Amino acid sequence: MPSRQKPDLPFEQRRNALKICAVAFASGMTGMPAIAQNAKPPVLDVPYVPTPQPVVDKMLQMAKVTKKDLLYDLGCGDGRMVVTAAKKYGARGIGIDIDPKRISDAKANAKKAGVTGRTTFTVGDLFQTDLSDATVVTLYLLNSINRKLRPQLWEQLKVGTRVVSHSFDMGDEWPPEKTEVVDGSTIYYWTITDTQKKAVGK
Ligand SMILES: C[S@@+](CC[C@H](N)C(=O)[O-])C[C@H]1O[C@@H](n2cnc3c(N)ncnc32)[C@H](O)[C@@H]1O
Repeated sequence: MPSRQKPDLPFEQRRNALKICAVAFASGMTGMPAIAQNAKPPVLDVPYVPTPQPVVDKMLQMAKVTKKDLLYDLGCGDGRMVVTAAKKYGARGIGIDIDPKRISDAKANAKKAGVTGRTTFTVGDLFQTDLSDATVVTLYLLNSINRKLRPQLWEQLKVGTRVVSHSFDMGDEWPPEKTEVVDGSTIYYWTITDTQKKAVGK
């Protein structure tokens, strides 16, 4: 299972693991652990693979996160992005994940880090989440899911909101303003401008 991978796996292995899991999920080989009887397994658009801490740190640095920010991590996994933003920069953060197991892990990690007052973790579908009060959005999804999410980001986010994605871009229609490579992982950075708002008639 990718969730048991060591975080220091070489980049190619990590990226391939995420892609292989995505293909396995799409073909019904979910490999999900058994869950409580009668509980429906969550339908994941992206399997769980955590972002290595050096990549988390660089993503927050690229977004220039401060205590004034409200950061959303869409598909927050164990909450490391939100917890780090709160602990290191004093930001407020919201983590959304469709898998209740991830949300309970994230809440436990926030408690351990002493940041429960600045963080909120909610079970939910990222495509059903209102993002309009975010000032920073972080992502570690897939190319296909980023492209599906793009209109929602353009429509809901305010001009000036920063968007940072681990490993996956947004397609030719939205080239990144900058990129950085950390331990073999590419990080993509965008800001919402009038151009995106006009493109969705806002
Ligand atoms: C690759 S992991 C990234 C975890 C975390 N953001 C990180 O960078 O360490 C993707 C996460 O998205 C969650 N996920 C998948 N589909 C989702 C959906 N439709 N809505 C919300 N979360 C979803 C998975 O449960 C998983 O935890």
